[in-house]
Amino acid sequence: QLALKETLFRINQKVMAHYEARLRQAPPGQAARQYLENRGITPATLDEFHLGFSVDQWEDVVGFLKQARISRQAALNSGLVVPRKNQSGFYDRFRNRIMFPIFDINMQVAGFGGRVMDDQMPKYMNSPETPVYSKTRILYGLHAAKTHCRNAKVVHIVEGYFDFLTLFQNGIKNTVATLGTALTAEHVRILKGYAPAMVLVFDSDAAGIHAARRSIKTFLNEGVDTRILILPTGDDPDAFVLKHGPDAFLDLAARARSVMPFLRQVAMDTHGSSVAGRARVLADLMPYIADIQDSALRSLHVNELAETLNIDEAAVLEKVREQVIKSK
Ligand code: UTP
Ligand code: MN
Ligand code: MN
Ligand code: MN
Ligand code: MN
Repeated sequence: QLALKETLFRINQKVMAHYEARLRQAPPGQAARQYLENRGITPATLDEFHLGFSVDQWEDVVGFLKQARISRQAALNSGLVVPRKNQSGFYDRFRNRIMFPIFDINMQVAGFGGRVMDDQMPKYMNSPETPVYSKTRILYGLHAAKTHCRNAKVVHIVEGYFDFLTLFQNGIKNTVATLGTALTAEHVRILKGYAPAMVLVFDSDAAGIHAARRSIKTFLNEGVDTRILILPTGDDPDAFVLKHGPDAFLDLAARARSVMPFLRQVAMDTHGSSVAGRARVLADLMPYIADIQDSALRSLHVNELAETLNIDEAAVLEKVREQVIKSK
């Protein structure tokens, strides 16, 4: 298993260099370089994060791996090639995409993401799960961000490759990206090792709000000091920073609300602060509170909620019990 992992890291490293070389060839790399330039990525960022390009061919990486004397089994395990149906041989998983190597914390290449340069679907493809790549554990950019997270004592969590790269390039270096998946408990535990506080900045589109909601439960369970930042006008962090600059972003981040006040505000904006409204606010928040496993932590949230809604604590506790029974 250890030998297999080492082999996969070695393959990924080689293929990363191959994709980088392809990006620098004109053609076929010209359009990809132009695309990155249009998105505001500087040559220095491109070098630092080893961005590359997979050409529009079926067997470019297949041929490269063959030439590098990589065994068929190892090539297959890397996820970079896919077996052909009904016949022998492989084809390249990533074709005609901007390539983002995904580094682990030790700077080893664990996997890749690839983006099309137009509006084809799927917009992004990522490496499949392999012995060295697990999407519930990996955080894009953490290898570069970790010292900045330690120094700043707070980490910004964004969704996408370009969100990370644009923030990092504009000096907001205490940032990582979850690559579109909801934050897992594993992610939070890893991040807690670098910073005690987190700012969740998911897109304000449906997918982002859904991911944020699921992430909120994870934060509550892990007892981390978390603030939620919803950017105005539907921008994602990448678009926002390009339009308004990093200082405007940091301003909003500093004013972002903690998880419970955030949820409460959302619910109160919806239901109002009348007696009936506050009862509904309580009902809205119940699933989040009931989901907290640590009973001391849960009790603190019950207490705070009872106080701010001006409801008897025993009544809130009763609701929590009902909810716990309901969700079992
Ligand atoms: P978004 O759809 O918000 O894309 O997905 P984006 O990051 O803003 O991309 P740009 O700015 O259009 O280039 C957020 C993240 O979800 C993952 C990617 O990691 C992406 O960065 N994703 C998205 C996928 O894995 N597959 C997809 O088809 C789309
Ligand atoms: Mn989105
Ligand atoms: Mn705007
Ligand atoms: Mn986005
Ligand atoms: Mn975007």
